[in-house]
Amino acid sequence: MIRIAVLGCGRIGRVHAESVAASRRAELARVFDPIEAVAREVGERHGVAWTTDVDHALADGVDAVIVASPTRTHVDLLTRAVRSGRTVLCEKPIDLDIARVDACRADLGPLTDSVMLGFNRRFDPSFAEIRRRVAAGEIGALEQLTVISRDPAPPPSEYVAVSGGLFRDMMIHDLDMARFFLGRVVSVSAMGSNLVSEEIRAAGDIDGAVVTLRGEGGQLAAITNSRRCAYGYDQRLEAFGERGALAAANQHATSVAFSGESATGAAGPALEFFLDRYTPAYRAELDAFITMTERGGAPSPGFDDGRAALVLADAAEESLQTGVAVEVDA
Ligand SMILES: NC(=O)c1ccc[n+]([C@@H]2O[C@H](COP(=O)([O-])OP(=O)(O)OC[C@H]3O[C@@H](n4cnc5c(N)ncnc54)[C@H](O)[C@@H]3O)[C@@H](O)[C@H]2O)c1
Repeated sequence: MIRIAVLGCGRIGRVHAESVAASRRAELARVFDPIEAVAREVGERHGVAWTTDVDHALADGVDAVIVASPTRTHVDLLTRAVRSGRTVLCEKPIDLDIARVDACRADLGPLTDSVMLGFNRRFDPSFAEIRRRVAAGEIGALEQLTVISRDPAPPPSEYVAVSGGLFRDMMIHDLDMARFFLGRVVSVSAMGSNLVSEEIRAAGDIDGAVVTLRGEGGQLAAITNSRRCAYGYDQRLEAFGERGALAAANQHATSVAFSGESATGAAGPALEFFLDRYTPAYRAELDAFITMTERGGAPSPGFDDGRAALVLADAAEESLQTGVAVEVDA
């Protein structure tokens, strides 16, 4: 049994704590949050030790660590954890500042191979199957990838203020998906909009975007993001190639469909948000992390995938500001 500590018990930390507690291959060793009530609540829910002291969280009795704290704390926590001999599953993004990511990479050297990145969508059963079938040649050479990712509603303005902007906070998942399918990306072009939230506009951020990327093999990817979607959490993906297409549609709470005078085959809203939509993906991600901890070897996605996605997010930001495509190597 791999003994895992969860650092940060907010929205995503609770998801990870649940996944670890439910796993037959791991044990939730302890949970940490600087807010006592939060640490206690999550610890007591799972009947495990809780602490507000990070040194205690990283003390003996832990093989692996999940970093699920606010982004600004990731570099420090993951560095401490890998230097103490643990493997780390670090939530995205590694940091908002590529200079800090590069400094961390230089500091850790080969120890970055102990860090897996929390790009959970790679583990979504539908997206993972499309990726496998593309690799198996079912649609011939991949030519175009379309990723649609829309949140149900804008986040609170306090969140927007520290999020790093739509590209680094939200689209970073989709940018990683583009790399997952295309491999190395060489060009990024972005347009953004403010059609949803005055608060987001006031914070200097955008609330909608379309980004196009070119892979080194000439393939194109188009990513569409919005901070609002009337019908739930819109998460779709299509891979198109020489001999056909593979597509994953939205998921619903039930498979019931309405037909009548106004509609035929109308399903209910899509699943509400990431906590529902990606539960199986978070579990599969944890499994991959446990396997990496048990067997060693470089994780996938790893630290450099986290870095590359941030490079693409920065390039999208630059393209939005300048209006021209940005050449990259990521
Ligand atoms: N992969 C995903 O689907 C996904 C989804 C949501 C968030 N995230 C990422 O996870 C991270 C956390 O996001 P969230 O939405 O859970 O945030 P949150 O604000 O809900 O929770 C963060 C928690 O960390 C605690 N915290 C504050 N300082 C800390 C420190 N120094 N060490 C440890 N814990 C600390 C806070 O008290 C809080 O309980 C962010 O980096 C975010 O980008 C990833």
